[in-house]
Amino acid sequence: ATVPPRKTVRDYIRTIPDFPKPGIMFRDVTSLFADPRGFRICVDQLLDPFAGQRFDKVVALEARGFILGGAIAHQLNVGFVPVRKAGKLPGATLSEEYQLEYGEATVEIHDDALAEGEKVLVVDDLLATGGTAEAGVRLCERLGAEVIGCSFVIDLPALGGRARLERMGLRVETLCA
Ligand code: PRP
Ligand code: ADE
Repeated sequence: ATVPPRKTVRDYIRTIPDFPKPGIMFRDVTSLFADPRGFRICVDQLLDPFAGQRFDKVVALEARGFILGGAIAHQLNVGFVPVRKAGKLPGATLSEEYQLEYGEATVEIHDDALAEGEKVLVVDDLLATGGTAEAGVRLCERLGAEVIGCSFVIDLPALGGRARLERMGLRVETLCA
C-alpha cells in the first residue's frame, strides 16, 4: 500500500474568502495552531534556518505573532518581548506609526524591553505589506538591539513585504506563500 504524503505547514492553513471584506483571501492560521503536529512542525521549521545562531530575545507582533513567538522563545530558552498595538503596554514605551491600506496604526514596545546589542528574532504569522514588521524592527533598532532575522509562516509576495524588509538589509525567512 502507498503511504499518503505527510501534510506540510501550508496544508494546515485555511483560506477564507471575503474576510474581513470582499476580495480579501484571509489566511487563517487557527487551523494550523489547533493541530498538534501542525503547530510543532511550524515552530520547528521557523527555527531551522537559524540553527546554531545565538539569540537573546524573541520579539513578536500582536496578536497572532504572540502565539508563535511564545513557543519559539520557549524552544530557544530566551525571553519574549511583545510589540503591542497602542495603549496596551503599562510601562514607558517607544512608538512607531505606520500606514495601513486605509489610515494608520501605531505599535509600541516597552522602552526597557531590549538592551543595546541584544540579538533578536522578530516573529509574526504573516507578511503582507510589511508595514507592521517594519515598525516592529524599527522599535528593536531604536533600543539598540540587533535584528538577526524576521520569520513569518506566510508570505504574500504580491504585497511587497519581503522586498521592503530586504531593502532595509534584513534577513527574511518564510515557510509558504
Ligand atoms: C496581520 C498579521 C500581521 C499584519 C501583516 O495582523 O498578523 O501582523 O497583519 O500585515 P502587513 O504586512 O501589511 O503589515 P492584524 O493587523 O490583522 O492584527 P491581529 O494579529 O491582531 O489580528
Ligand atoms: N493580514 C493582511 N493580509 C492578510 C490576509 N490575507 N490573511 C490574513 N491576515 C492578513
